[in-house]
Amino acid sequence: MTAPEPVRAGELTFDGRPVPFREGQTVGAALTGAGISSWRTTRGAREPRGLFCGIGVCYDCIVTVDGLRSRRACVTPAHDGQIVQSDDPAAPLPLPRRSDG
Ligand code: FES
Repeated sequence: MTAPEPVRAGELTFDGRPVPFREGQTVGAALTGAGISSWRTTRGAREPRGLFCGIGVCYDCIVTVDGLRSRRACVTPAHDGQIVQSDDPAAPLPLPRRSDG
């Protein structure tokens, strides 16, 4: 006896590409399931990175999700209509402005 196939839950977009996902998957699982194995590069050598630990510890898998940078793909639940973008570690993070008066 085999387990039933998980039900397709929705579709996110990754750098403009549609990526289907199944119920309970994370963004990282959805990307990997779609054959996408890297979605950012390292700051210095520009080496490709994707899932490494898969449990939220290493931060190798960071992506931008719905405009929020540095989200860990491996622990971020996938949602229908989510917009996921590859992350550029060389891009400056927006810092809050101080009002010094
Ligand atoms: S793969 Fe290590 S934090 Fe996501």
